[in-house]
Amino acid sequence: MSSDSIAINVKGLKKSYKGVSVLNDVNFTIESGTIFSLLGSNGAGKTTTIKALTTLIKPDDGDISICGYDVIKQSYKVHEVISLTGQFSAVDETLTGFENLVIIGKLHHLRKPKERANELLSYFDLTHSSNRLVSTYSGGMRRKLDIAMSLINSPTVLFLDEPTTGLDPQSRHNMWDIIRDLKKSGTTIFLTTQYLEEAEQLADNIAILDKGEIIVEGTLNDLKKLLPQEKVEFIFPTEQEFKKAISLLIGYKVIPHSESNRLTVYTCEAINVLTKLFQLFTSHNIDIKDFSRKSPSLEDVFLTLIGEKEALANG
Ligand SMILES: Nc1ncnc2c1ncn2[C@@H]1O[C@H](COP(=O)(O)OP(=O)(O)OP(=O)(O)O)[C@@H](O)[C@H]1O
Ligand SMILES: [Mg+2]
Repeated sequence: MSSDSIAINVKGLKKSYKGVSVLNDVNFTIESGTIFSLLGSNGAGKTTTIKALTTLIKPDDGDISICGYDVIKQSYKVHEVISLTGQFSAVDETLTGFENLVIIGKLHHLRKPKERANELLSYFDLTHSSNRLVSTYSGGMRRKLDIAMSLINSPTVLFLDEPTTGLDPQSRHNMWDIIRDLKKSGTTIFLTTQYLEEAEQLADNIAILDKGEIIVEGTLNDLKKLLPQEKVEFIFPTEQEFKKAISLLIGYKVIPHSESNRLTVYTCEAINVLTKLFQLFTSHNIDIKDFSRKSPSLEDVFLTLIGEKEALANG
């Protein structure tokens, strides 16, 4: 990667609040024109990372550059190239969609804020509601307006903090199309999400943040390779059979799902393992309600890696 093609570079980022470490030594690089997705559970430090990258908080340590500009020493330059749609809506409910956009346009000293407002309303399919108060908008419409506001100055790098949280499946798919279009137009996108499917659908590169550290980073395929290629699943009719089955699977890579009496077993040899486990369960009088064979998803990577880390931490 040449330095010109790097949109975001983060080295040794650290941040604590009142002595409690939230980010300890976060490092990553994002290529221009790509979508990077930062995944993590609640409280992992996703929003803190975005705040440090967008100059909203000062890191305790580390170097961050956006389009070659240092976020501390050249923050005014960084402001010219970035935009942020935060986790919580920034729209003013007492104004119309059009008015919200015009105000932001004026704050950015646009020469023609009304024209830009109309252009964005049309792009986000909000023209028909442009003169209605935002308090009458649905959640999906507000989120679209939120993103429209962050696009007012045509940013080179766009930060989206959980852009689809709370949206229904159709609105989520619409938002994905918008994000894909932005990428096509050359925008670099930094996206946080708790929806693994979202990262799977959109991201060129994915990083998983856990307890202030990036525990894994790569393409979707890189991440999937961290697990054996396949998994088999068994569903048991009762909790008793489910627990008995777990106790028999010593030496296998297993994730139990106790709420549904379901066991996922990871393997490179799905057919052999299916046959062996059927024999094992039958010989111990364990009934099986259902079974299946699948490729691992990003969710499996996430659960396995975090599970492994916790197992190590607990000795
Ligand atoms: N201003 C603050 N003062 C003290 N602690 C903070 C502050 N901001 C964040 N934290 C703590 O830092 C940790 C990470 O918070 P952060 O908001 O970055 O998590 P997140 O990954 O965005 O979570 P979520 O998925 O819930 O949005 C949490 O434990 C949070 O309580
Ligand atoms: Mg957050």
